[in-house]
Amino acid sequence: MIVPANPENIDRAASLLRAGQLVSFPTETVYGLGADARNREAVAKVFAAKQRPIGHPLIVHLADAAALGNWARAIPAGAQALADAFWPGPLTLILPRAAAVPDVVTGGQDSVGLRVPGHPVAHALLERFAALGGEGVAAPSANRFGRVSATTAQHVAEDFGTEVALILDGGACRHGIESTIVAFTGPEPELLRLGAIGVEALARVLGREPRIAGSDAPRAPGTLATHYAPQTRARLLPRDDLLAALAHMGRSTGHIAVLAHSVAQPALFEGTWFDAPARGHAYAHELYANLRALDARAADEIWIETPPDGPEWSAVRDRLRRATHRG
Ligand code: TXA
Ligand code: MG
Repeated sequence: MIVPANPENIDRAASLLRAGQLVSFPTETVYGLGADARNREAVAKVFAAKQRPIGHPLIVHLADAAALGNWARAIPAGAQALADAFWPGPLTLILPRAAAVPDVVTGGQDSVGLRVPGHPVAHALLERFAALGGEGVAAPSANRFGRVSATTAQHVAEDFGTEVALILDGGACRHGIESTIVAFTGPEPELLRLGAIGVEALARVLGREPRIAGSDAPRAPGTLATHYAPQTRARLLPRDDLLAALAHMGRSTGHIAVLAHSVAQPALFEGTWFDAPARGHAYAHELYANLRALDARAADEIWIETPPDGPEWSAVRDRLRRATHRG
């Protein structure tokens, strides 16, 4: 059930979480599907609802960085510096886990993902949850496994219907793309997922760019080749290829749904056309809503104009590569 994120409903949501129920809540990145991170049965419900394979770890959301020591057994200086710089905010730190963290949360790994979200509703919910004796809320993005993340309460309801006790409606998420993930589990900080915080911003705090994770990195579904994917077959087309394909469209091309940010809709085009913002942050803000809406048109194919190069677009390029990957 979708309810407005007012203080009364936030109280109710915190109580439901403490009672082992699932609650969806807005963050500044995407909506989360939350469960009491200390309650194994509650966390198991998240995996069942998402149809997410067991073994894929969840991020634990905290009201305050001061609680970090309850979850991590070591906090390297670089991690502390990033936490100081970016929390509350769209950053997730992977740290060596404390002994008491349930295996179902960490996927059995020796590390745990932690984030202090900056969204006022998420923050109020976590504070209320802590006041009721809770310690952390395990929350993946509130979408079915492998699918497009949810950036509005309506998206969450589309994916989960009645499986979630409550959906707190805080409007559309500001960033619209998931948190940046940096792991401090080896000799060097490692970037596991591009996100709302860019590599340059991390480098300013760390003194240098984090290593980009290789294939030996801890398992993270956000880093699977096919992810964030619409049901409809989607293709990336550089501007010139898109123009050429549009010029050669015929009856046999079928219903095409286009997401363009620089190409204008041709006068005789008969499919579905979405104009996306030409700036990276604005594009990211609408990306998942656009992919969901394009998917809902049940076109034969989705054609997406390849986003520009440049750091402002790197997280968007990453998500679109995965959304269009076939394999
Ligand atoms: O912006 C976000 O991070 C959102 C909001 C709700 O906070 N959450 C999110 O969760 O995107 P999820 O589960 O969809 O993606 C979290 C990623 C996954 O790829 C997961 O494998 C990775 O974080 N992760 C979590 N704990 C990890 C760990 N201990 N080691 C490696 N990767 C981990
Ligand atoms: Mg996700």
